[in-house]
Amino acid sequence: MGKPRVPVKIVDWSEIVEWSRGLAARILESGWRPDLIVAVARGGFVPARLLCDFLDITDLLSVQSQHWVEAAKAAEKAILKYPYKVDASGRNVLVVDDIVDTGETLALAKRFIEREWGPREVRTAALQWISSVAKFKPDYYYIEVRDWTWFQYPWTRLEDLQQFIARIFREDERARGRILGEDELESLFREWYGVAPADFGDYWKLALDRLVEKGILERVNGGLKLLKR
Ligand code: ADE
Repeated sequence: MGKPRVPVKIVDWSEIVEWSRGLAARILESGWRPDLIVAVARGGFVPARLLCDFLDITDLLSVQSQHWVEAAKAAEKAILKYPYKVDASGRNVLVVDDIVDTGETLALAKRFIEREWGPREVRTAALQWISSVAKFKPDYYYIEVRDWTWFQYPWTRLEDLQQFIARIFREDERARGRILGEDELESLFREWYGVAPADFGDYWKLALDRLVEKGILERVNGGLKLLKR
């Protein structure tokens, strides 16, 4: 098998705990202590909650970032969905996300909090940092990634799997407008993503069922076919 079109690494819960503990250790070693943690929704939720545990912090808030596709440009721009104000005067704020990929999200959240919440200092942390593509380097990270990979975190299994499967039906010439048998779909999936449906355990069946429920896929003669979009 050649190189997958979209290289995927499945991350399990035990790795998340290990990486979050390692990230907490880096923060402790630095001697800087946050008074307040801000999770960037949705990816920063679990790492931020674990950091609260490992760093003994009770104050946890969240801001949500959203990626816009500008109609004319096809360029992606990050915005904050609910830009509420908080009085964080005199406090050290740690902004947490799962991964720094382009770096837009975390940079945006940091700037917003600095400008609008009046904190003493804002620092940033992520479990992973893709150094080859990111325009922004977080103050703290646990893993430096060099070759771009899609990390399939445990909190987006079902969502990601549905998108992975739908993408094959929409973009692969061997799938478009056709009925795919289960074996064919599994083999295309392995080729596209470099991982097997079986690696996702029960989630594989859940994802297929969900795509059928939503009317995106249809079951025909024991196979599957794309219905819309
Ligand atoms: N979110 C943004 N970039 C990502 C990546 N490379 N893997 C997982 N989640 C992401």
